[in-house]
Amino acid sequence: MSRVALITGAAQGIGAATAKRLAADGVAVAVADVDTEQAEALTATLPGPALAVHVDVTDRTTIEAGVQETERTLGPITDLVNNAGIQRIGASESLDPARWAEVVAVNLTGVFECCQVVGSRMLAAGRGAIVNLASSNSERGMPGRTPYCATKTGVVGLTRALATEWAARGVRVNAVEPGYIGTPMVANAIQMGLIDEDGLLDRIPARRVGAPAEIAAAIAFLLSRDASYVTGTTLAVDGGFLAYGAPAPTSADQTRTLDP
Ligand code: NAI
Repeated sequence: MSRVALITGAAQGIGAATAKRLAADGVAVAVADVDTEQAEALTATLPGPALAVHVDVTDRTTIEAGVQETERTLGPITDLVNNAGIQRIGASESLDPARWAEVVAVNLTGVFECCQVVGSRMLAAGRGAIVNLASSNSERGMPGRTPYCATKTGVVGLTRALATEWAARGVRVNAVEPGYIGTPMVANAIQMGLIDEDGLLDRIPARRVGAPAEIAAAIAFLLSRDASYVTGTTLAVDGGFLAYGAPAPTSADQTRTLDP
């Protein structure tokens, strides 16, 4: 059966990698972003049917218009990837409430509204799969990132609740938690000195940041029929980052026997 995916925030980074992966898998793709120019440039490179749609996930009118345009051009949406996300950094005690609201609007309310608009159509069709982008910050705190951590934890809760509500009606809802992935978001943080690259790699058992295509592969799996019995789950794709609980590494061989 033919598939049509709408991916928010797909003009660059993980969203763009997901658009490329799904298009290569034979899925028709709507590249939904506020950056229409970059969305159109990406769409022109995709194999198979594809469309750039102007969607601002904080503006329901544009979500509804983008969904209608996608369905008119490509057919009924079977796959939704809620990938658009923003990061605003600042000390919590002095954070401008407008910055808080901005992050909540994109990272949490935007995800819910896209689930609502697209999900209601999927429920009517009796089929569909949704993947929401959470983060390792859904599970771990980080100074200066209170709105980001709070909204990304919220995405995990939203995913679980929706999955339980819609499972019997043919719509699966899952989340992916990327660790540190080589996209502009992480590159900028390293460049600004907000993340120490060596210190970061010490915390990742795989000893490298991930590639956007590795997140796209996890998203593609969760959307596919291979995941037909998977719903309400959150898949960490992080090179072991969340699993690692040891103190900062030393040069000692931690696996040597301690037996006398
Ligand atoms: P990015 O910053 O490279 O790209 C985000 C895209 O979203 C951009 O194309 C931007 O134009 C679009 N966008 C922003 N606001 C929007 C809005 N209101 N409506 C529609 N589109 C909007 O981001 P990246 O790094 O590719 O991250 C994608 C997702 O993965 C985000 O939800 C992010 O929080 C999450 N994530 C990323 C990690 C990383 O290491 N890069 C780690 C953990 C989670």
